[in-house]
Amino acid sequence: MLEKLIKKLKRQKRKIIVVGSANVDIVAKVPRLPKEGESFRGESLTIVHGGKGANQAVSLARLGADVQLICCVGKDHFGKSMKERFKEEGIPTDTIKETDETFSGTALIFVDKNGRNSIVVIAGANHELKPADVIQRENPFITGEIFLTQLELLPETIETALIQAKKNGLITVVDAGPPRKISQYIFPYIDVISPNETETEFLTGRKPKTKKDFRWCSERLLQMGAHSVVLKLGKQGCYYFDGVNEVYVPGYKVPVVDTTAAGDAFTSALALAWGQADIDEILDFANVVGALACTKFGAQPSMPFFEEVTKFLKSHNK
Ligand code: RIB
Repeated sequence: MLEKLIKKLKRQKRKIIVVGSANVDIVAKVPRLPKEGESFRGESLTIVHGGKGANQAVSLARLGADVQLICCVGKDHFGKSMKERFKEEGIPTDTIKETDETFSGTALIFVDKNGRNSIVVIAGANHELKPADVIQRENPFITGEIFLTQLELLPETIETALIQAKKNGLITVVDAGPPRKISQYIFPYIDVISPNETETEFLTGRKPKTKKDFRWCSERLLQMGAHSVVLKLGKQGCYYFDGVNEVYVPGYKVPVVDTTAAGDAFTSALALAWGQADIDEILDFANVVGALACTKFGAQPSMPFFEEVTKFLKSHNK
């Protein structure tokens, strides 16, 4: 069923610009997530590359896109290693800002034995990416097709980037994580908003538990001004609504190792496939990419390659 979409994606190298965060993730594997005031022994500590923007850029590169990443890292050991990683993934680093004002973005992550996580992010250099830096880096906006961002940067930087993207006629996709307010006037610049369950509740005031809730929450987001909504519902799959068409696509059952950045993998696939097939196929493709990211440990290390996606689809007769 997804054969046509896969062939199309393989043929073209879609030009996608990502404006977002880059972090180093310090990950502790724990038997369970800690409660307030608790102290117990963890199992291991690992340092991997992360950050919602960087994760999505790496995912896109592995899926075969032509990616431009605008982010900011510190002039420190972490910043250097992030830039090296991007080069290894084939992501150009000339649009990446370096700052000595502060340290590189860092995330402290707990992952329990069921793959669930808790994340604390210290923005660091991510908050040194200012609107002027985005305006200065206009070139990728001129040549790009799709614009992808998240809410981990300064609001004014995200807003400037969204306006710049629309001014250049790009399709704009916003991953609504982490939960943050989006100013009313910026919503109409969003073609596709994709929040997970927590972010949906934060933005709309209602937990998306039933299909009725999915519709209600999506309607709220459309009323706020977004043009279409894709709710990320974890293992339940995802839900699309644009005011007329409503599509729900169930998720895949996979052996879960770590759910960190599964949503990033999903949104990057959504952006890549946007407009290239019927919406149910696009959602199914994004579900696969998100599911595969749950089967490996770590944020960027878990982003699946295009071949892994096609192999998975074959094994599911798609
Ligand atoms: O979405 C997962 C990401 O959120 C992690 O990689 C962490 O860095 C935070 O940005």
